[in-house]
Amino acid sequence: MKVPDIRVPPPGPLARAILERDRQVVSPSYPRSAPFVMARGEGAVVEDVDGNVYLDACAGIAVAATGHSHPDVVAAITAQAQRFLHISTDYYHEPQVALGEAIAKVAPFEGGAKVFFSNSGTEAVEAAIKLARHHTGRFNIIAFLGSFHGRTLGSLSLTSSKTVQRRGFGPMAPGVFHAPFADPYRCPAGVSPEQCAETALAHIEQEILTHLVSPDEVAAIVVEPIQGEGGYIVPPPAFIQGLARIASQHGMLLIADEVQSGIGRTGKMFAIEHCGVQPDIVVAAKGIASGLPMGLTIAHEAVMDWPVGAHSNTFGGNPVACAAALVTLKLVRDALMQNAADVGRFLHDNLKQLAQRHPVVGDVRGTGLMIGIELVRDRQTKERATSERDALVMAAFRRGLLVLAAGPNVIRVSPPLVFTKEQAAIAVRILDESLADI
Ligand SMILES: Cc1ncc(COP(=O)(O)O)c(C=O)c1O
Repeated sequence: MKVPDIRVPPPGPLARAILERDRQVVSPSYPRSAPFVMARGEGAVVEDVDGNVYLDACAGIAVAATGHSHPDVVAAITAQAQRFLHISTDYYHEPQVALGEAIAKVAPFEGGAKVFFSNSGTEAVEAAIKLARHHTGRFNIIAFLGSFHGRTLGSLSLTSSKTVQRRGFGPMAPGVFHAPFADPYRCPAGVSPEQCAETALAHIEQEILTHLVSPDEVAAIVVEPIQGEGGYIVPPPAFIQGLARIASQHGMLLIADEVQSGIGRTGKMFAIEHCGVQPDIVVAAKGIASGLPMGLTIAHEAVMDWPVGAHSNTFGGNPVACAAALVTLKLVRDALMQNAADVGRFLHDNLKQLAQRHPVVGDVRGTGLMIGIELVRDRQTKERATSERDALVMAAFRRGLLVLAAGPNVIRVSPPLVFTKEQAAIAVRILDESLADI
């Protein structure tokens, strides 16, 4: 199949008819990226209802880890669906236990792990917040500016990516203190990544924990090891290491929100492993079940000590989602994590070359298949090229490449982990042409 293959300028007539029906009945709050109406997908290739074929470099917000409709995942889902679809958390089933065992084996910390199962990233973050409060007997949380942890009221109180996500929904949960995130690209010129990390850590120790909240009343530091929605920002490892030091010094828990960066996307099972830091709790979702809804709150066994009835849900650990997750985890561990590292390096190197041809490309950064391209109007002032970024998303879409925005002026490239070097080369070519368009 030719990829991409745009036969009708999108949105075509069939897509337009569905967009119109959507407008009548679907909540207008979804921040749509492009008028792509999906008909089917296979691997990293997707087709719309008008027969246009696109290369998918977003994987449904970093979810379709094994590619669209991987045959092994579909077979596992089908087999489980024929046995039973649901039994609830009041009873037991083997796929949930097997998934707990598989997750415990890959948890990025020493000692045993226990897992709370839910259905989305935000729900998994809620569980982490509640568990941290319950375990420590403290209620304050330190989170980061630019972070995204979800949109339910607990996680939203940590989220500080865009004001539109919070506007009209206050008051937020009390006891959340936002600290600056170490962004090497936006530290003042001449400042090394290590100094950038030191400055951000000093803010926590010398401002927040000195003037605003006593360290012995802080339950947890919640951090994305790579900031996702905020702009695919990779902090210096010293930043995450410093957070671990502060947390352990004061009896706080370190919670790694790996909803976007986890499950092999960065070339390791969890991105925090690149920093040599062991968190107390890890939150995962998106990629774990190849597209079926699932959230995981993975805690050190000594931390997950809440009593019966303290926290639960109806759908957590749904058997069909567990079956999909078991296969996903095996595929990621056996091959796709390494593919993410290899193809990610190739893609990163080639995207870097775009910066030489297009002055609007200020920075290309990332690890594995989690790559951000930051657009600026001027490389000296680093003025954010926001409308240019939006134009680039649409130019790429019209040429047959799906990419998503992140932060105010960043494009994220987060394809399925089955992405090949040939597909990476096509993505780079389309981005090159699209950059020329804008
Ligand atoms: C790091 C992070 N945490 C939490 C969430 C919330 O996940 P969900 O949209 O599944 O609720 C997201 C979603 O983008 C995320 O990127």
